[in-house]
Amino acid sequence: MNDAVPALACHDVRKAFDDVQALDGLSLDVPQGAFFGLLGPNGAGKTTLIRSIVGLTQPDEGAIRVFGLPAGQTGAYASRRLIGYAPQDVSLDRFVSIRRALCLHGRYFGMTAADAEARADEMLEAFDLTAKARSLANQLSGGMRRRLLLARALLHRPRLVILDEPTAGVDIELRTDLWDYIRRLHQDGTTIVLTTHYLEEAEALCERVAFIGDGRITEDGTPAELRERYGVDRMEDIYRRVVGR
Ligand SMILES: Nc1ncnc2c1ncn2[C@@H]1O[C@H](COP(=O)(O)OP(=O)(O)OP(=O)(O)O)[C@@H](O)[C@H]1O
Ligand SMILES: [Mg+2]
Repeated sequence: MNDAVPALACHDVRKAFDDVQALDGLSLDVPQGAFFGLLGPNGAGKTTLIRSIVGLTQPDEGAIRVFGLPAGQTGAYASRRLIGYAPQDVSLDRFVSIRRALCLHGRYFGMTAADAEARADEMLEAFDLTAKARSLANQLSGGMRRRLLLARALLHRPRLVILDEPTAGVDIELRTDLWDYIRRLHQDGTTIVLTTHYLEEAEALCERVAFIGDGRITEDGTPAELRERYGVDRMEDIYRRVVGR
């Protein structure tokens, strides 16, 4: 695949919910192999954008491409398979064991049964869930459910991983474990897009950040460029300047 094609390209995306313009002409390119942070206040449009990319929301206007393929509801399976998505709201199958749920996810994305099972065991191990393999998701603690969401997102070896607040409610030790894991993924060439309200997380992980405000990108750059542009040192101060609160 042509390396010049962005992993994610959003062009003039618009989405209204009744009288709320959640996305208001949002354009964004994420190059292949980037580690990209999407920052912005509650209600800015981050989750709506992500749900549009994975086809859970249909934008009113605009185009979204993933590795050059049409994405969202009209693009469907070919591009969706390239994406690993961990949603902000925990949504897990309640009726089968977590191992079975991971295997089913792999099968849905075209893996053979043997590959899906081997990979499910690998992911359970990587996220320290092996002891819970036969449990139902609702028998896990909140932090374990977050880990399971990540395991599921990564199961089918996606090339673009989109994590919507992956470390919300996760303890400090686990958070650094997850950071290490996501960093390794990035080193192996996976493109990462994450949202977070933990600015130290964005600072520690992201090579590039974009701020969303009122459904549009209001600022975009490397942390170093933004520090220079605003003449401040801390990400928190950049955030306050950009978001204007
Ligand atoms: N299904 C929906 N129906 C109606 N309004 C919605 C729906 N989904 C999102 N919105 C509205 O769209 C706006 C953007 O919401 P969104 O969830 O994208 O924000 P966000 O940036 O992810 O915020 P947060 O940081 O709180 O997760 C908000 O005003 C929200 O109330
Ligand atoms: Mg959100």
